[in-house]
Amino acid sequence: MPALCVLTGAGISAESGIPTFRGAQSGLWAKYDPTQLATPEGFRANPTLVWRWYQWRRSVVAEADPNAGHIAIADLEIALCERAPTSDDAHRPFTLITQNVDGLHRKAGSSDPVEFHGNLWENHCDACERAAGRVALDIEEPPACPACGGLIRPSVVWFGETISERAIQRALQAVQSCSICLVVGTSSLVYPAAALPQVALEAGAEVIEVNPEATPLTPLVSRSIRGTAGEVLPGLVAELIATFA
Ligand code: OAD
Repeated sequence: MPALCVLTGAGISAESGIPTFRGAQSGLWAKYDPTQLATPEGFRANPTLVWRWYQWRRSVVAEADPNAGHIAIADLEIALCERAPTSDDAHRPFTLITQNVDGLHRKAGSSDPVEFHGNLWENHCDACERAAGRVALDIEEPPACPACGGLIRPSVVWFGETISERAIQRALQAVQSCSICLVVGTSSLVYPAAALPQVALEAGAEVIEVNPEATPLTPLVSRSIRGTAGEVLPGLVAELIATFA
């Protein structure tokens, strides 16, 4: 059974009303400084500022619903996994890797996405790294860790931090063994995630990019579809399901 892998970025959630990072007008990094808000040094310099920014992002995401793009990807997983059910990572017919921390893929029904940059809702202690679970949206200061007194921070991967070993392993397994790799809504600028489609290409996969704009990946891919995730994915997914039938 051939396998299919999907890599998504902020663009998949744009039609759910969640801002991307690098849009010239509305991108988060056009308005906010990532060195202040998305680095461990930024958190240690001003924990309240960073905590409140993530609480604001959580409140935006809490109001958002998955769009037609997320739902099409969940439908693709259901169709492929019904045909070749397995619990073995090495033989999974479908893997979703997302750089997004918003949880909308799970909300749409995707069962077990590789959350490459972590999860916006989870927290852990900045000092002892103990998991701290979820925190109510009205808490305006980073809570103290009950174990060591350190400050609790969101469990997202910040610039300069390493991706979890488990996420790297699952992602590499998927891109090295897939026959089709679908890349949706990412600027393909942030590594190591941006290297994953290149690994798929080197392993002989067909790489299909869906994005309204060209990216550094565009000249390398087998097929580039210029459009939004919500417009393109329902039809493309129907085509892929038919291909894999
Ligand atoms: P970016 O904001 O860099 O890129 C978003 C991409 O989505 C762009 O290429 C847009 O053209 C495209 N796009 C916009 N609207 C779209 C739509 N409706 N459908 C499809 N595509 C659309 O976001 P990422 O590539 O995800 O990391 O950024 C990667 C990482 O950089 C993020 O995970 C985050 C950020 O800093 C961390 O916070 C660690």
